[in-house]
Amino acid sequence: MDSAQKGVISNALIGKVKDQFLLNWQGNHGIKHWARVYDIGMHLAETYDVNQQVIQLFALFHDACRENEKNDPGHGKRGADLALKLKGQYFDLLDDDFQLLQIACRNHTHADTHNDVTVQVCFDADRLDLGRVKITPDPKYLCTEAAKTNDMIDWALQNSKEGHIPDNILGIY
Ligand SMILES: [Fe+2]
Ligand SMILES: [Fe+2]
Repeated sequence: MDSAQKGVISNALIGKVKDQFLLNWQGNHGIKHWARVYDIGMHLAETYDVNQQVIQLFALFHDACRENEKNDPGHGKRGADLALKLKGQYFDLLDDDFQLLQIACRNHTHADTHNDVTVQVCFDADRLDLGRVKITPDPKYLCTEAAKTNDMIDWALQNSKEGHIPDNILGIY
């Protein structure tokens, strides 16, 4: 396994993110959603040549600085800024990979897609977990072909509706 595919999230990093989180930790944009985004991202990573660490960190940071559960257009940028603040002390990434994390966090709220497949998988992992707010993911808003399949949408929708907590570092926290 090369280093880009190892787990990058520690309990200490999750603790730092939790310390500054303003919303309900168990709510619609909290840790259970992040754990499913991580899980979906790792499933999509089986199909594509992506940096899994970027996807894992996207799951943790993309909604970490939301200020409300509804319309908060600045939360992607704030999540990216938090990642910058904690990089070096709580996790590390090569510069090019960190740029992808920045792009994915900053743009996940409004971008249709991006030319890098790691960023595409980040967007899709988030958009496939919409069942928790009673929305069925629409292939029109997904980037990768693997995400658009009925099997993937049905699997993610079921988990999301049931409030499934995956067995990963975010799921067990
Ligand atoms: Fe978000
Ligand atoms: Fe999200």
